[in-house]
Amino acid sequence: MVFGSGSIKKVGEEAKKLGGTKALLVTTGNLLEVTGYLGVISKSLESVGIKYLVFNEVEENPSTTTCEKGAEIARREGVDVIIAFGGGSAMDAGKAISVLKSLGGKASDYFFPKIVEGVTTPVIAIPTTCGTGAEVTRYAIITELSSKKKMTMAGPAVLPRVAIVDPEVLKNIPKRLLAWTALDALSHALEAYTSRAATPMSDGCSLIATDYVLKYILKAYEGDEGAKGRLHIAATLGGMAINDAGTTIIHGAGYYLTTHHNVHHGLANALLMPHILEYNLSYVSEEKVSMLLRVVGASSVRELIKNMCNLMNALGIPDSIADVGVKPEELDIMAKDALEYKRNVANNPAPLSEDVMKELLRKALLGRSKVYGS
Ligand SMILES: [Fe+2]
Repeated sequence: MVFGSGSIKKVGEEAKKLGGTKALLVTTGNLLEVTGYLGVISKSLESVGIKYLVFNEVEENPSTTTCEKGAEIARREGVDVIIAFGGGSAMDAGKAISVLKSLGGKASDYFFPKIVEGVTTPVIAIPTTCGTGAEVTRYAIITELSSKKKMTMAGPAVLPRVAIVDPEVLKNIPKRLLAWTALDALSHALEAYTSRAATPMSDGCSLIATDYVLKYILKAYEGDEGAKGRLHIAATLGGMAINDAGTTIIHGAGYYLTTHHNVHHGLANALLMPHILEYNLSYVSEEKVSMLLRVVGASSVRELIKNMCNLMNALGIPDSIADVGVKPEELDIMAKDALEYKRNVANNPAPLSEDVMKELLRKALLGRSKVYGS
């Protein structure tokens, strides 16, 4: 991991260390141009004699087709290092392109429960949002358009070789995107902390990430650059936590909002988090709950959840899933869809059935203000 203001300038040096001679810069639309980083990256690569080409066709929630196309270009052009610049979508696409380019086949050949192993073209991941943590995870989440499902490539071969976490990239991030992605990071931290697969190592990452997001998100939202730096670290720590512990049914249920209502991934988790987290925490050991409450300075789970709701109100997060277009008659299908994300169900600390899931979603439909009076 390379961290610090201006660390993007080291991308050439890092690519060289990985033996790179020709890079594929994977990104979303004109992000490199609007952030002003095309010049910085190209200069850094040229200074060490590395050629590059840009693949900027990555859409939000990248599809299997896009990743297969990127892999085809990487193979044809003889690329030996991949630089993924952007949010979760660009980084996940970069990781999937590396797998497909190196190991061949179609994206669906690598979906979980298969574990992706083997030697893959090294990926340098540069996050431009403070949420996903994809720069340090061994997962790539790819959307299969035919089934409207988010599929996962998981395994050691998916993990980027280098993460460059430069807080300066958050300088001009739109406020809304900052809030949504930081709430995704908070969700990672708290889901990993409550996951059945949590370890003391992931708990350490989770607790600091949780503390940083709760403490700095409002200041960052108001434009404080130092606070944005803390969120950038929190996002990476959240990624490290889910790398061990995975996510729970908050993510599992949130996928439906993205695939069926086009809701941003971080916002989707935020809309569900208070309701599902409260239920999940009631199944987590007293020792762990009291450690969490000590860190966040709350005297009860209810207080923690209320504080979280107040923060979301201040950040302009809609009150309920009804506000993003979910109709009451959809809850049955949404509950079923969530429970199909088996990995998330397996990680969830509290028991889940269709009835339980529907009850949690009913609360999310009712909204924070009605459920918690916030
Ligand atoms: Fe996430």
